[in-house]
Amino acid sequence: MLLHIPNVLTREQVAAMRAAIDAADWTDGRATVGSQGAQVKRNRQLPETSPVALEQGRIIQQALAAHPLFFAAALPLRVVPPLFNRYSGGETYGLHVDGAVRSVPGSPLRLRTDVSSTLFLCDPEDYDGGELVVVDTYGTHEVKLPAGDLILYPSTSLHRVEPVTRGERVCSFFWTQSLVRDDARRAMLFEMDQTIQKLRDRLGETEETVSLTGQYHNLLRMWSET
Ligand code: NI
Repeated sequence: MLLHIPNVLTREQVAAMRAAIDAADWTDGRATVGSQGAQVKRNRQLPETSPVALEQGRIIQQALAAHPLFFAAALPLRVVPPLFNRYSGGETYGLHVDGAVRSVPGSPLRLRTDVSSTLFLCDPEDYDGGELVVVDTYGTHEVKLPAGDLILYPSTSLHRVEPVTRGERVCSFFWTQSLVRDDARRAMLFEMDQTIQKLRDRLGETEETVSLTGQYHNLLRMWSET
């Protein structure tokens, strides 16, 4: 499931974040990938241990924790500290799949990457190219969102970032280990959750919405792993 989550950060939060990260020291993005990724990745990143990245990443994690749509879609168990990347002057990231396991810097923790997220920190008119292209069973999707918006997609999908031919593309990206590892199950739970909410908005709480809510939770209980 691909999902656009609008307004994860406000315009003011994006502006403050950009001021902080733009002034930091950026390094070659190949530092955080395996050998296949290194062959196709041409961009810059903030180092994983950069204090600025850690501080700004915490702001993103707080925003996500308060966002009901992110919770409903990702069903997060744990999230890797967000990273930051930028592309300009033709930089690109060719077709790849994200590594299945990531370690959390400075901790013994490892997590399985179930859900990938890209949070845009620039507006579409700031650059040409730079579309995130996600390939799934329904075809190829091109994504370019307003600053502050996030796209969430299964980490199992092949994806690429098109060359940036004008201006600069600045984003945060991170991975979530979900309580429900299977994308199809997660997508069904999300559909069910959203439909129950719409029914509740239309009819108020009824015997039927209570029953459906119970079934949602029983499915989540059956499928979740910690
Ligand atoms: Ni990737």
